[in-house]
Amino acid sequence: DGKLRKPVVVWVDGCFDMMHYGHANALRQAKAMADILVVGVHSDAEILVNKGPTVMKEQERYAAVAACKWVDVVVPDAPYFTTLQVLDKFHCDFCVHGDDITTLADGTDCYQEVKDANRYRECKRTQGVSTTELVGRMLLMTKDHHKRRSSLAQSPITHFKSEELEGFSSGASKSAPYTTISHFLPTSRRIVQFSEGREPMPGDKVVYVDGDFDLFHVGHIELLRAAKAQGDYLLVGVHDDQTVNAIKGSNFPLMNLHERVLSVLACRFVDEVVIGAPFKVTKEVLEKVYKVDVVVVAKPEHDIDGADPYALPRAMGIAVKLPASGRELTTDDIIWRIIEQRKLY
Ligand code: CTP
Repeated sequence: DGKLRKPVVVWVDGCFDMMHYGHANALRQAKAMADILVVGVHSDAEILVNKGPTVMKEQERYAAVAACKWVDVVVPDAPYFTTLQVLDKFHCDFCVHGDDITTLADGTDCYQEVKDANRYRECKRTQGVSTTELVGRMLLMTKDHHKRRSSLAQSPITHFKSEELEGFSSGASKSAPYTTISHFLPTSRRIVQFSEGREPMPGDKVVYVDGDFDLFHVGHIELLRAAKAQGDYLLVGVHDDQTVNAIKGSNFPLMNLHERVLSVLACRFVDEVVIGAPFKVTKEVLEKVYKVDVVVVAKPEHDIDGADPYALPRAMGIAVKLPASGRELTTDDIIWRIIEQRKLY
């Protein structure tokens, strides 16, 4: 309305371990209450004392939060207990957190001080996803899942005997809720909330990159950042569950198509997503959504039938292979971390 008013600055803090679309959805809701969203992320040491070990290291967690399109500022090493002093230091009007209680190791509510000062607001927690639940999905992979990959390639969900899961389950509970079946119910409304709705401007160079984007992590973020730098508008193809399973086998993907699409949409480098893109980069992919100018070569260069999925963009002279950054993380690396640290969960 043209009038000058003080911008509303909002604070959110958390661990953001294995950042998922539940975290992103909390940040989206917080940003809707704000002009500027400041996100404090706890250090590994701070989380270890109050909650336990993390899967992702602090630098990876900071990078994951910074890549979320609703975040304006990341504050590393934020304290676990949220004080008024912290809010004032970063000029935040109030703090937002999901409607679940977060406590210190001694049981104190982390938000008591800001609640008492009426500088606390709540957003709705997203049902069906949590870091613990994702760890559970990963623990359903046996130690030798890599070796078993080819023989299991046809089975989308692998069943394990209860003895095999012994020692994988957390704490004393025998009925750990570990399952490979996602409890997330995707709705079109959620996809709309996460979507950008921006179309390419005339003259924009459209870049296409495709992949599984399972357990969205810093490796994916780096790829999308580099892909976006190849042009002006980034279109991302996300493969459907059958395609991922046919290529990767075992009980991959760990997140279903809709969950993977939401993670990709929450990333600031992404403009649009093809939901269930084919593995082969076809004429349809390159022409039907938007006319693609550059295709980033990012996945294995042979399909299940051995053919090169990039044959067409290569023949057209629009395929680009990015130089390896040398510090890529893979979904398999994350699973191995969890399997190795499993006694800690
Ligand atoms: N959050 C959410 N929905 C989820 C998970 C987390 O809205 N499914 C919100 C939390 O309420 C919090 C923010 O995301 O406001 C950061 O959460 P974090 O500190 O990482 O902790 P957890 O709540 O423990 O998240 P998770 O259970 O996934 O580890």
